[in-house]
Amino acid sequence: MIGKLNHIAIAVPNIKEAAEQYKNIFGAKVSDPVEQPDHGVTTVFIDLGNTKIELLEVLGEGSPIQNFIDKNPKGGMHHICLEVNDINTAIDKLNTHEVSITGTGKPKIGAHGKPVVFLHPKSCNGTLIELEEV
Ligand code: CO
Repeated sequence: MIGKLNHIAIAVPNIKEAAEQYKNIFGAKVSDPVEQPDHGVTTVFIDLGNTKIELLEVLGEGSPIQNFIDKNPKGGMHHICLEVNDINTAIDKLNTHEVSITGTGKPKIGAHGKPVVFLHPKSCNGTLIELEEV
């Protein structure tokens, strides 16, 4: 069902500082910050060749990462994103096996313009997993 690791997301208190570290000290290929008001986050992508790191910063009220940043004020690993070919087939299988999907349980268009769902950490060894259809 799952394919490649699409990205690892790290929630950060200050995305400008985090992006500068990856660019200037770690020497990585770093995108400009993009505000995603529909998703309540600002994102920066770091291209590692085999996968990406997604930096996330809170944007506005009610951000889905606000709680996480409150609990982890210095930032931390927020989720991993795995690719699937067919998200609805994946959802059916997960439902059969009682793997909990967050929110409505239906795919939403994610920060990269593709359908995604998030699997609840309580069902996945304490790790929030994003499935993205590619
Ligand atoms: Co993500």
